[in-house]
Amino acid sequence: MSFINKIIALILPLVPKFIVYLFAKRYIAGPTLEMAIDAIKDFNARGIVATLDILGEEIEKKEDSLKVMEEYKQALADIKSNNLDANISVKPTHLGLKIDKEFCYQNIRTLVIEAKKYENFVRIDMEDYTCTTDTIDIYSKLHKEFDNVGVVIQTYLRRTIDDINQLIPEKANLRLCKGIYVEPPQIAYKDYDIINSNFQYTLRKLLENKCYVGIATHDEKLVWHALSLIDELNLKKGEYEFQMLLGVTEDLRDILVDAGHPMRIYIPFGEHWHAYSMRRLKENPQVAMYIIKHIFSGR
Ligand code: FDA
Repeated sequence: MSFINKIIALILPLVPKFIVYLFAKRYIAGPTLEMAIDAIKDFNARGIVATLDILGEEIEKKEDSLKVMEEYKQALADIKSNNLDANISVKPTHLGLKIDKEFCYQNIRTLVIEAKKYENFVRIDMEDYTCTTDTIDIYSKLHKEFDNVGVVIQTYLRRTIDDINQLIPEKANLRLCKGIYVEPPQIAYKDYDIINSNFQYTLRKLLENKCYVGIATHDEKLVWHALSLIDELNLKKGEYEFQMLLGVTEDLRDILVDAGHPMRIYIPFGEHWHAYSMRRLKENPQVAMYIIKHIFSGR
């Protein structure tokens, strides 16, 4: 972690909540589901679909996970009643993974069934490396039973090639990203070029094997590589999508949308936005640097 990043990580928790909100609101729809639904409406009007994420993770009590479940069910119902094009993204530790794996599996299964009722879809986010095996297990078990569920693969992980070799025969539905957690070097590559090469290798292998991929990156080099693959493999719209985070590289997002590529925006919201933002920033102050750059560039 660079010196400047360490300073940012130390200072941010002291900044008053309302000031943090001024900066965070670019990346978070707001504290309520209603605000998230409004954000989806705006995107849908521009031909962009969405995925909703209720902020929070590492739940310690089962009853708290059950509350999160109710919020997700409400989100699915509101997406349907507003006739919106959006699905949901869930974090296993938010649904009890660290309490009891079977409890978490049953929770995600319930949401997949609920989503199915509305012809909708559940994406299982990938958290830090302590969750990878359990998350893939839960996904694979669910995917045997349901077609409206997908998981995430992180290309900074050394295990990723093995994971996709396991997931390809299952015709997995995957979001491919670099990975956001700060992992030990025994677990994850640290070199930008290796992580990018692994992204490119993995993306090619998945697309060639007809897996549906959410190409989740703001890195123009990876976007270019993905575009060249889409062309080379002559992929049609329903065979891939690009995905980006709310408020990030909006120019690149619009270029892809204008060129006719399917785009899904990840929209986080919820009352725990402050605790969540602080935790992420503490773990990975690079994100704070992005925010500061945006503030000074006025975009
Ligand atoms: P890179 O980090 O090189 O960023 C490229 C450029 O994008 C930067 O130079 C900067 O300009 C901009 N940028 C990137 N991230 C930014 C940010 N947060 N704020 C402002 N600017 C930013 N990770 C994970 O571990 N598990 C998961 O489930 C998911 N899910 C997920 C969903 C979606 C839709 C996206 C887009 C990303 C994720 N991620 C994730 C995060 C992902 O792993 C990764 O950390 C970030 O996307 C940043 O990596 P890039 O590929 O964008 O490249």
